[in-house]
Amino acid sequence: MAEPTIEDYLVEDRIFPPPTDFVANALVTDRSMYHEAEADFEAFWARQARELITWFDDFGTVLEWDLPFAKWFIGGTLNVSYNCLDRHVEAGRGDKVAYYWEGEPGDTRAITYRELYEEVCRFANVLKGLGVSRGDRVAIYMPMIPELPVAMLACTRIGAPHSVIFGGFSPDSIVDRVNDAEAKVIITADGGFRRGSVSPLKPNVDVALDQTPSVEHVVVVRRGDNDVSMAEGRDHWYHDLMAHASTECPPERMDSEDLLYLLYTSGTTAKPKGIMHTTGGYLTQVAFTHKYVFDLHPDTDVYWCAADIGWVTGHSYIVYGPLANGATSVIYEGTPDTPGRDRLWSIVEKYGVTQLYTAPTAIRTFMKWGHEEPQKHDLSSLRLLGTVGEPINPEAWMWYHRYIGGERCPIVDTWWQTETGAQMVTSLPGVIPTKPGSATIPLPGIFGEVVDDNGNPIERGGGYWTLTKPWPSMLRGIWGDPERYKQTYWSRFPGRYFAGDGAKIDEDGYIWFLGRVDDVMNVSGHRISTTEVESALVDHPAVAEAAVVGASDPVTGQAIVGYVILKGRVEQTPELVEEIRQHVAKKIGPTARPKAVIPVPDLPKTRSGKIMRRLLRDVLEGRDLGDTTTLADAGVVEEIRRRAAESPQED
Ligand code: WTA
Repeated sequence: MAEPTIEDYLVEDRIFPPPTDFVANALVTDRSMYHEAEADFEAFWARQARELITWFDDFGTVLEWDLPFAKWFIGGTLNVSYNCLDRHVEAGRGDKVAYYWEGEPGDTRAITYRELYEEVCRFANVLKGLGVSRGDRVAIYMPMIPELPVAMLACTRIGAPHSVIFGGFSPDSIVDRVNDAEAKVIITADGGFRRGSVSPLKPNVDVALDQTPSVEHVVVVRRGDNDVSMAEGRDHWYHDLMAHASTECPPERMDSEDLLYLLYTSGTTAKPKGIMHTTGGYLTQVAFTHKYVFDLHPDTDVYWCAADIGWVTGHSYIVYGPLANGATSVIYEGTPDTPGRDRLWSIVEKYGVTQLYTAPTAIRTFMKWGHEEPQKHDLSSLRLLGTVGEPINPEAWMWYHRYIGGERCPIVDTWWQTETGAQMVTSLPGVIPTKPGSATIPLPGIFGEVVDDNGNPIERGGGYWTLTKPWPSMLRGIWGDPERYKQTYWSRFPGRYFAGDGAKIDEDGYIWFLGRVDDVMNVSGHRISTTEVESALVDHPAVAEAAVVGASDPVTGQAIVGYVILKGRVEQTPELVEEIRQHVAKKIGPTARPKAVIPVPDLPKTRSGKIMRRLLRDVLEGRDLGDTTTLADAGVVEEIRRRAAESPQED
């Protein structure tokens, strides 16, 4: 018999129509795009591709769909760096600022489109000089400095796919990724600034290099001024090579389906997957979503995505989307608490940021630090807020709305994945009313359904989120492993893309993401989403953050355990812990009441801020911890283990 689908507990009835002042100047204020895409989605995407992108040769066939392999904009040729740079300079916008860059120590650079264009051309020539040609893979392991987008764009200029490796990863992660892609060159820096000191990068590359036979050259940007060793003939300083490079570098004419980049995503344990993104479809959908979801007014906006470029969010919404659209953006190198916990808000004030895009985990951290921090600054330039990366709890949504958005900014809660390349489910902010905690509805041209265990679409309630039609920026495969691509994404529900998220659909057709289905708990036959219980915990006024897991239980199959971080000045007492447990029962029902609530000082998170529930389960079930290398702070787990051992469990 089929298991029940995920149950639907949390009821959230607040609704926020697009603010009138926002709608008055919004790019889109009616549903015509939805209707157009509904009627003919290929024609809709073809129109976007021609409006937003400059093609050297126009495409013929819009889509070739040989499930699960898609090709978009067939026969079209283009160059990504041309679209991001040359065409803006040619149109007379060369003096416009592309990036306001803010280093963590407080040093700054304002880089115009012309300057960026020239630096990219020079670095593209440098890469050619090192023997990189069309189709060769280049690994990039860098801090958040302007040379990082320069390196990426230079690769796209000469048709060399890049593989950006997040700067927080260890030498082992570099080895896996470089070898899988057989990268010829690594671009790195001596180090970068994080939390007030230099975190070394080149030394990690040196360790990796013993095991990466494909690498012929290493280019090193000087940033941290930390001591590094340079191997004669193999390692080169960026500034030395750039000194002699020409600014003349014609862009390579790439096919729409040529590989643009690889980006590795790690499952919980298995070997990381090299997600493949190609050129024309990817650029079309990132430009489309960046323009319409963020309601971009390129002449007046200062847009800021506070993610790291090492994640897909940074690829699509710091580099390719904003530059394709000729936007002015902010890039910040460091951590949000350096030198003070108001650093982000000081940057918003300093540059007059109009759109801010960040992650729920960051928002919950800001909540914990208190609203006094943002209140030290004038945030009135903001007109739109965005979130990405996890379901946002309604309480965090309300805090963001009130203390950052001043109750005047629409919030776009954007659901997407490394695999989808660009945003998929979120609101067009001038059109779609929002509900705190819901990503709302699929964008125009995107089609998805919630299905039950048997793959049948459901119109209300909880199940699995699937996509039913191909989309331009979809992954084209897993590098070197087409079988794994089919298995991972296309086998659970035949004919549908499924990448592992639970979701529920409400009476208005709104989608509420419920977290990864691997994390769904089964308590006495009820399948309960971690997200809903976490939201109920965070709803209690004393709780800043929560992580919920199901631990095996002889009676109920699994029992719910909630780890909570209490707010700054709250005193931890047994009465409070009991009150928090009961709060969940009150909010979403007795079945979801945690068996134990354990206050902890911190939670184990990946470096991109996602909670590692697997580790929390391991702690509870007394298992040895598996691989913890992706953990941002390994010490956290020991403390949690101690607290869990001391905690009483109740029924
Ligand atoms: C989760 C990040 C709920 C989801 C762009 C997805 C979200 C995974 C949201 C992809 C959201 C991302 N609401 N869940 N708005 N955005 N997720 O590959 O589980 O780092 O499958 O891409 O993050 O994470 P990834």
